[in-house]
Amino acid sequence: MSVWAKHKIFEKNTFVLLIGILVAVSVGGIVEIAPLFYLKSTIEKTEGMRPYTPLELAGREIYVREGCYTCHSQMIRPMRDELERYGHFSLAAESMYDHPFQWGSKRTGPDLARVGGKYSDAWHVEHLINPRSLVPASIMPGYPFLANNRLDTRDVAQHVATNSLIGVPYTEEQVNSAARDALAQATPDSDAAFEFEERWPTATIRDFDGNPGEVTEMDALVAYLQMLGTLVDFSIYDNQANLR
Ligand code: HEC
Repeated sequence: MSVWAKHKIFEKNTFVLLIGILVAVSVGGIVEIAPLFYLKSTIEKTEGMRPYTPLELAGREIYVREGCYTCHSQMIRPMRDELERYGHFSLAAESMYDHPFQWGSKRTGPDLARVGGKYSDAWHVEHLINPRSLVPASIMPGYPFLANNRLDTRDVAQHVATNSLIGVPYTEEQVNSAARDALAQATPDSDAAFEFEERWPTATIRDFDGNPGEVTEMDALVAYLQMLGTLVDFSIYDNQANLR
């Protein structure tokens, strides 16, 4: 039987063809995917990564709840235009504590992976209340109610505990004091803030929403936005893919 005659067996029998396709696709898949589980460099160890503080995690929850991901991605690809616009491409390690990931490919608005520190807190508050007051042509919706919603910390402790259960390295103390710490991070000069600082030495304590009276959902969301992409110090990593 010639090679072409053997090939006819596949061409004339749908099931044989289907099995042939499955075999071909699995071999390709295994060759691509299996090494990722063994290569040490799949997730590089990076200095500076830490889990989200309870307030940042609450902000992230609001980000997901409000569907910000339907217009914003959080992954900078290693391509020249992206590097020039957003900075260093995203590392796998930068989203290792993300449950769920916010990578995305839908960019109605800009990528937010490194938006932390790009603007002031006041800018974010104003922009979230009414984007068009700062960017006249913006099509982003306003979220003015966030500034009036007091942050509900009832489930933040469980949220931190759940993340811990699936492998985020929170200490027991960080889990147990999550609800208090969520409020403390946005209440500078309080006793709770000093305790927070001991548990979270590299986190920022600020009144993020500019309203010292209460801790709102705006505090949480701005705390989250302001830390995005700021944990890894890129001056110590070489940026080989950059601008070649
Ligand atoms: C309908 C799409 C849409 C949704 C939903 C949306 N945005 Fe935007 N966003 C945009 C667009 C378009 C821009 C660019 C214009 C501007 O700055 O307002 C933008 C800009 C931004 C910027 C400034 C980024 C930069 O680098 O200049 C931030 C921060 C931001 N959005 C945060 C959010 C957050 C947080 C949410 C959810 C609460 C959200 N966006 C929801 C479309 C959207």
